[in-house]
Amino acid sequence: MEQHIKIYNNNCLDILKGLEDESVDLILTDPPYNLGNFMRDRQTNLKKMRDNFFGDAGWDDMEFEEWTKSMHMFFEQAQRVLKKKGSMIMFMSLLRVETMVKLATEHKFYYKTTGVWHKKNPMPRNMNLHFINSTEGWLYFVSKGRTGTYNNNGKALHDFIETSVAPAGEKKYGGHPTQKPEKLFEHFIQVLTNENDVVLDPFMGSGTAGVVSKRNNRNFIGIEIDQNYYDVAKLRLDDVEKGYQLTSLFSRELT
Ligand SMILES: C[S@@+](CC[C@H](N)C(=O)[O-])C[C@H]1O[C@@H](n2cnc3c(N)ncnc32)[C@H](O)[C@@H]1O
Repeated sequence: MEQHIKIYNNNCLDILKGLEDESVDLILTDPPYNLGNFMRDRQTNLKKMRDNFFGDAGWDDMEFEEWTKSMHMFFEQAQRVLKKKGSMIMFMSLLRVETMVKLATEHKFYYKTTGVWHKKNPMPRNMNLHFINSTEGWLYFVSKGRTGTYNNNGKALHDFIETSVAPAGEKKYGGHPTQKPEKLFEHFIQVLTNENDVVLDPFMGSGTAGVVSKRNNRNFIGIEIDQNYYDVAKLRLDDVEKGYQLTSLFSRELT
């Protein structure tokens, strides 16, 4: 079967409206967490904290009300484009998990799980001042049903997932400040979809969900508002085309 990979450099709220009803099997996404202003308002004067601060990238600087409004619009479209019993995995800051569950259930998503991703090698920023941030949350929902594809192959899969952060090889075209490792996204794509299914990432950043979808014979639709990240995603997807395979140093994780 011919594989379809389509990526857009645009606002996802505009592109999603043009996608067909019930045409997507899995939404796997990592939207802005609305932490940019929150962290900036703490007015830290610690140089190490300011350096490499993702809030300065400019894509996570909405006020809370504006952000929840945009997520409302996202959930409305997400519910429409997902097939019956289609799944959604959304990464989210633990601080914002409750807000997202509330919004998703208002849009009739069936809530399944709040999970934790633990980074084995986070940046040890200000390690002598506080606990290093090494976790992010992820939420699992089903649309128009209670259980969808779930390829656990008889294994009891935990809601705690541990990997290293995206290795240098996955950032060779320039990294994204919150880039997810391919191993992490591959786990969800393999469990929640089958070959030839359609995966959508409306906040695709550097295209991790696309790279993994392509390598696993899934179709992919990706949307990214920032031209630079879109270009990185395109280059990474072209690499898969060339048969480039990552020899991950961490290949035993999540197996
Ligand atoms: C948390 S990052 C995703 C990182 C991605 N998972 C990766 O592995 O590289 C969120 C991305 O959403 C993009 N974004 C924010 N608002 C958007 C919108 N309305 N439409 C499309 N993309 C958007 C940002 O530019 C940012 O790259």
